[in-house]
Order: sequence, then structure tokens, then C-alpha cells
Amino acid sequence: MTTLLDVFATPRNAKSRTQKLRKAFLAGYQEAHPGFVHLELDLSAEHASLPAFDEWDIEAKFSVMYGEGKLDETTAKRWDRLTQLTDQLHAADALLITAPMWNFGVPWMLKRWIDCVVQGRLTFEFVNGGFNGLLKGKRAIILTTRDGAYAPGTPYAAMDFSVPYLRTVLGLIGYAPIDAVIAEPMVMGGPEVGATALEKGILEAGALGRVS
Ligand SMILES: Cc1cc2nc3c(=O)[nH]c(=O)nc-3n(C[C@H](O)[C@H](O)[C@H](O)COP(=O)(O)O)c2cc1C
Repeated sequence: MTTLLDVFATPRNAKSRTQKLRKAFLAGYQEAHPGFVHLELDLSAEHASLPAFDEWDIEAKFSVMYGEGKLDETTAKRWDRLTQLTDQLHAADALLITAPMWNFGVPWMLKRWIDCVVQGRLTFEFVNGGFNGLLKGKRAIILTTRDGAYAPGTPYAAMDFSVPYLRTVLGLIGYAPIDAVIAEPMVMGGPEVGATALEKGILEAGALGRVS
């Protein structure tokens, strides 16, 4: 049975445009993978339960990575929470990430999750002076919307630190192929352009979901 890990950072919930892409993708995915195992991680609701990478979490990371000492009970508990998150990636056949652009990057709760799951030994390793991702053979899909427009070759292309960044970190930990649906501009071109771009994005997301 196929397992999909569905991670989303869309605090506007029912009002979220990006959620419309997610719904379309999931409907398509259900057609292609009837009865798939659906692991949902709503980062707007659950971010507070993730390690925050303060002093203690960083200590834990270095203890685990470089054997610099034993974890005390509290730190071990937080490290366990982190490995639950990386275990989810290993358990799933595919990863769906749904998030709007925020200040040219990703929403902070998604960054918090990335800081937890991109971990030496757990999701990547260093081999022969290079990176080796440990999630090879798994597909990733990125769904996003934004008010401006940042397509390659256009004036604001260099300001997109969201999709290129997600492609980089997901590629680092082994995901391939990585597909993205970018619905833009939601606002910059006026309401009609925005509505058309969103409709197009919804169709693209549904089609990507149906890929088996
Ligand atoms: C905190 C915040 C920061 C944003 N930053 C950008 C930005 O840098 N560039 C952009 O084009 N749109 C930006 N937007 C607009 C959103 O990306 C856009 O409205 C998106 O469609 C919202 O998705 P949602 O409806 O799923 O929340 C920002 C919105 C918020 C709330």
C-alpha cells in the first residue's frame, strides 16, 4: 500500500488558496492510489510540538552526530520527537509539501520542520566528500501560491527563495523527482489574472496527483 506524507503550512486554513491545490492533488492521488495511507502533518496546528533548535536541541544534535556525551532525559525526549519526524519520511513513499511564499521564502513553521528533518545520519550522510541523501527512490511534490510572479527569466525571478530552496533541501536528502505547482501571481496582475492562475494551478495539481 502506498503511503503519502502530507505536510502543510497554511495558517489561513479554509481560506487558504494553497489548500485548494492540495485538495486537488489529494483527489488525484486517491484516484491513482485508492486507499493510500495518508500521514498528515499540519504544521500550523502542530509546530509547537517540534524541537525548536534552541541550545538544548543543538546540544542533542551534536551529541548524537559526534558522540559528544550522553543525552539527559529531557533532551532525549526532544530528540525522540525529532526522530519521529524523520521516521515519517522513511515510512512514506512520497512527500507532499503545501505552503505559500512568505517574504520570498517558506513560512517559518515549515522551516522549523525542515531544520528538524534535514539531519546528518538520519536523512543524509557525507560520503567521499559529498552529500548522500537517504530518501532515494521517493517522489516529492511542492504546491505553492504567491501574490507576485517570480518565473525564471522574469524581473523578480531572483527573489524566489521558496521553491528553489525546497528543491535544494529535498534533493539533498535524496528526493527525486521533485515536481512543483506554482500558482502565480495571485494579486500582482489583478483579480482575473489571479483567478485564472489559481484555476490552472488546481488543474496541474490534480494531474500531478494522478501520476502513478
Ligand atoms: C506573512 C506573509 C508574507 C508574504 N510574503 C509574500 C512574498 O514575499 N511574496 C509574494 O508574492 N507573496 C507573499 N505573500 C502572499 C502569499 O504568498 C499569497 O497571498 C498566497 O496565495 C497565500 O496563500 P494562502 O492563501 O494559502 O495562505 C505573503 C503573505 C503572508 C501572510
